[in-house]
Amino acid sequence: MTETQQKTSVVVLVSGSGTNLQALIDATANGAPFEIRGVISNRPGVRGLERATTADIPTRVIDHTEFPDRASFDAALAEAIDAFTPDLIVLAGFMRILTQAFVDRFAGRMLNIHPSLLPAFQGLHTHRRALEAGMREHGASVHFVTAELDGGPVIAQARVAVEQNDSESSLAVRVLQREHELLPKVVGWFAGGRLALRDERVWFDGQALETPIQC
Ligand code: GAR
Repeated sequence: MTETQQKTSVVVLVSGSGTNLQALIDATANGAPFEIRGVISNRPGVRGLERATTADIPTRVIDHTEFPDRASFDAALAEAIDAFTPDLIVLAGFMRILTQAFVDRFAGRMLNIHPSLLPAFQGLHTHRRALEAGMREHGASVHFVTAELDGGPVIAQARVAVEQNDSESSLAVRVLQREHELLPKVVGWFAGGRLALRDERVWFDGQALETPIQC
């Protein structure tokens, strides 16, 4: 078997700029134990697709605006994912709510990165909401995807101190920098066989996690 065949195969889903995708691409170039088989976007023309093409990774667009409902979009998306036969699906800035059927199909092998210290600030505008709430700490989380939006068991988090003069954008920049370290690390753990979702809990190195790993 070649080295490439032994690596965990990943499909990355994006909706936008794809800087987290870039972090994964850079990790693969630096010997990470996974390979990116394909990148799928629900939006045509986004920077994430360009990044994939530049790295010679096949891309697909499944444009959600061309489907009458979530179920038909998710069915087309699942088919596109399966065509790459991945071991793992990574949502890296993928901004669609997924149906139960879709989530069930990929249960235990789908990860998402979210820009907050979950369970705080699920959903959108997390940096603004963290500032409005007067949080002293903010950050990002990687979790297994379940049907509850941003609600699946959290694997690991990166924390960022909120500065007194932070704006939404200055905070976003610092959190995103930490995301770029966090996501390849967690994908690497999955690829190394260290992570599993069992009984709705995260297992790491054979032990159920009590709290997310702090990175
Ligand atoms: C990232 O901050 C990611 O955590 C967030 O979108 C951004 C995508 O940036 N994801 C979510 O909000 C999902 N709920 P990128 O396209 O440059 O990686």
